[in-house]
Parts: sequence; C-alpha cells; structure tokens
Amino acid sequence: MSTAVPASAQHPGHGTGPDGGKRDFLKLVLGAGAVIGVGAIAWPFIDSMNPSGDVLALAAVEVDLTPIPAGSGITVLWRGKPVFVRHRTPKEIKEAEDTPLSALIDPAPDSDRVKQGHTQWLVLIGICTHLGCIPLGNKPTDPRGEWGGYFCPCHGSQYDTAGRVRHGPAPLNLFIPPYAFETGTKVKIG
Ligand code: FES
Repeated sequence: MSTAVPASAQHPGHGTGPDGGKRDFLKLVLGAGAVIGVGAIAWPFIDSMNPSGDVLALAAVEVDLTPIPAGSGITVLWRGKPVFVRHRTPKEIKEAEDTPLSALIDPAPDSDRVKQGHTQWLVLIGICTHLGCIPLGNKPTDPRGEWGGYFCPCHGSQYDTAGRVRHGPAPLNLFIPPYAFETGTKVKIG
C-alpha cells in the first residue's frame, strides 16, 4: 500500500499551503539574520585592519630610529600604507652594493635605493609589487628569502637587502616613499 506524500513535504520550504508560506518567510528571516550576524562579527575585524582617519590624514610621519637595532626593521603606517624602515648591517650593505645590475630583475644600484651618508637605513613601501601582500623580513627571525631582504609568502617573491626583487613573480623592486633625514636618528616620511 503506498502512502501519498503531500507536495509541501516533497519540496520543503516551497509548499503552497499556509505552513509552506510560513516556512519560506522564516527561512528568509533566518537567512538575513545569519548574514547580519556574520557582518557584525566580521566588521570589527575588518575595521581593525583599516587605519584610523587621523592616521590616513597624516601627510608625513616622523620616525625615531634609535630603538631599531642593526639587522632589524619596523613597520610604520604612512597614508594608510605600511612602510618598512630597516637598519642594515655592514654585511647587508656590502651584499647590496656588490650585486651586479645584470643579476637583477628590475636593475637599480644600491646607491639609488638609500640616501648617501645614511646607507645603513633602508626605507621602503612594504607592499609586494606582485599582488600587494605585505612581505616578511623586518625581524631577524622572519623568513627573509635567499637574498636576506624580504620574503612574500603569498606567491614566493624574494627581495634583497636593498628591497630589489630577486625572485618573482613580483616584477618590480619594492617602491621607495619620499623621505628625508631630519637628524642622524630621525627620518621624516612623506
Ligand atoms: S603578492 Fe607577493 S608574491 Fe604574490
């Protein structure tokens, strides 16, 4: 003996009776609640990644270099962008200076990448020139890649101790923001 199955049970949620209509309504409301719930959870996280208005508004940022030991770097925010300030060791400077231009993907001498008289300081926009990830390498314990500068974990690009790309897919060197030394231990970015 076969038992007839009501149409609303065969297609739950799409019934034509009064119950089916209620179910459709409830699903809509619950679905909207779920979307709003995710939004409410995600927003504080997304918002925390955005620089605040006063940071964005800063046309220039002054950085005190005294706390940065040789071999390490810090990241500061300038106009909403991460800027790496790295204190290079004599070995890192020599490696950057001794690299022949023929070995470079985006040829540039080290002298074009630093300020004369302050060659121990490297100031770069910390955004990978491939697809915009933030490379690693400020801390000596970070992965820095084969050339000892920065490593982008997104697709494996590597930069040397002058921020020049040495292994793609990034096509270009890390960009250099406008900056100037105000004193031997203070730099103004922007
Ligand atoms: S974004 Fe850096 S390697 Fe792709």
